Amino acid sequence: MARTTIVEYRVLPDAASLAHATAQHLTAKITETVRTRGLARVAVSGGSTPRATFQLLADPAEPYRDAIDWSRLHLYFVDERCVPPDNPDSNYGMTRDALLSKVPLPATNVYRIEGELPPEEAAARYESAIRNSFRLEGAEAPRFDVIQLGMGPDGHTASLFPHTEALNELGRIAVANHVPQQQQSWRITLTWPVLLEAAHVFFLIAGQDKAGVLRRVLTGPYQPDDLPSQIIQPRNGQLLLLLDSEAANELPPVEDGQGRLEVRR
Ligand code: 6PG
Repeated sequence: MARTTIVEYRVLPDAASLAHATAQHLTAKITETVRTRGLARVAVSGGSTPRATFQLLADPAEPYRDAIDWSRLHLYFVDERCVPPDNPDSNYGMTRDALLSKVPLPATNVYRIEGELPPEEAAARYESAIRNSFRLEGAEAPRFDVIQLGMGPDGHTASLFPHTEALNELGRIAVANHVPQQQQSWRITLTWPVLLEAAHVFFLIAGQDKAGVLRRVLTGPYQPDDLPSQIIQPRNGQLLLLLDSEAANELPPVEDGQGRLEVRR
């Protein structure tokens, strides 16, 4: 059955203003969730784009750090490369250096994917840590309060890469995924049903190299095996994109930096 997703996109002039807009958005979502639910369970992506946002969240000279009650934030990872935390490719390592080492987020509130372990073991341990922290019974999917996604120039998101096994995984929370097209060919990733279940999902995307694939993802034919980001049609029917002007370059022009598309699939 076809579903309609209201895709709202905000276009910021450059990477620096995008990082501020993302830090402000995350701060608002976290504080709103803590106020209404007592704690916020947030899953973040790795790669390079989020680093600037994480640095702003940690910067005492910026308004974000002191606005967040870090003791009530539980931080998870959308995916991880199967490398040790000190490897320069580690998403945890990037997040630790940019954010975790600089804010009073209790270590027990950080759910690291143990990339140094054999992939299947890392996935199973992460899945169990999520189940325990969400106090899940049975096969229900965890409902994260916020999930921040990125998108690769090939249309992947999380570590859901084109033509890889994880695209077909429906029953698990997290899996090991072999990605032959990547140098770090083993990844651990949340599965797409978990990504769709979240109360709020947003993409953070910057750079000219994402403009063409973003247009295809949003307005092209539905080809999820080629463009896994097309799968991200949250159950709540809402999707937010935070973009810089380069990434948004091939989307319909926006008024006051705000755009809206209805994606029906
Ligand atoms: C990863 C990420 C991945 C990332 C995209 C975009 O492990 O690499 O989770 O999904 O979000 O590849 O990465 P950039 O921000 O580096 O463009």
